[in-house]
Amino acid sequence: MKILLTGASGFVGARIAAAFPVIPSPSLRSLTRDGVRRMVDEAEPDVIIHTAAISDIATCEKNPDASWHANVELPLWLVGTGVKCVLFSSDQVYSGAPSDGHPYSEDNVCPANLYARHKLEMEQRSLDLSGETVLLRATWMYDMPICGLANRSNFLMTMLRAGEAAFSGTQHRAVTYVREVALHVCRAAQLPGGVYNYGSENSLTMLETAYWLKNQLQLPVVLHDAGPRHDLWMDCSKAAACGITFSSTTDGLRKCIADYSL
Ligand SMILES: NC(=O)c1ccc[n+]([C@@H]2O[C@H](COP(=O)([O-])OP(=O)(O)OC[C@H]3O[C@@H](n4cnc5c(N)ncnc54)[C@H](OP(=O)(O)O)[C@@H]3O)[C@@H](O)[C@H]2O)c1
Repeated sequence: MKILLTGASGFVGARIAAAFPVIPSPSLRSLTRDGVRRMVDEAEPDVIIHTAAISDIATCEKNPDASWHANVELPLWLVGTGVKCVLFSSDQVYSGAPSDGHPYSEDNVCPANLYARHKLEMEQRSLDLSGETVLLRATWMYDMPICGLANRSNFLMTMLRAGEAAFSGTQHRAVTYVREVALHVCRAAQLPGGVYNYGSENSLTMLETAYWLKNQLQLPVVLHDAGPRHDLWMDCSKAAACGITFSSTTDGLRKCIADYSL
């Protein structure tokens, strides 16, 4: 399978590029619609895996036009080329859903911020354009910094490096080892078109998860109960029924701890 990968220098893209032979796309930031089409025509891919995005909620909120272009228009241009696309979305599409409904299955969406609204618009419009598009709703992901690969602020790094950290004692939310996300992506490209919750599950709150990791690694970090109250815990059984299974949040953390001998 010939894979054209966008965002190959980003957090997720770099790990996909390290795991599989891919054609890394140039940056999409200044490409026109015709430029995107030309880039795809030249690469002649079987599938496009699209990870490029403005992935920071606050940046999207401050720059709504840029967010719409990056998170809605660009992916639609890719889908419009007629090549099968795998597009990354986010568990934030559940950010306004009532907490008694968790874990959320794919149709429980209720986006409560601009980033999430744009991701949901991208999902719906890309499926309208091509029913074979695969949308992957990812959780917050983590990894250690690796030489040559992009990293970003994430749960594991905060726990390892911060003297104090705040996590919500009521928010049920999963975090996922990004290497599992990368490793499943070729199988994801073979999924029937549609939306899939794609990551670990977690029945613990973020604060309970943080205490679990603190105890596992005997970390000095001082934890406080603060932060968002909304739940983001996804039910990932639809992807699992298609053969894509993730470790639970705590098992994923165990795997990462073992990989890096933490
Ligand atoms: N990281 C997470 O925890 C997380 C959680 C849930 C969902 N997601 C989703 O998963 C996907 C990958 O996330 P990520 O963390 O790998 O993203 P990222 O590292 O923040 O960004 C990926 C790439 O997007 C490109 N990019 C940045 N701004 C852009 C813009 N204005 N227009 C076009 N491209 C732009 C950049 O590539 P160039 O420099 O080559 O332009 C960047 O390397 C995204 O769709 C994100 O929304 C991520």
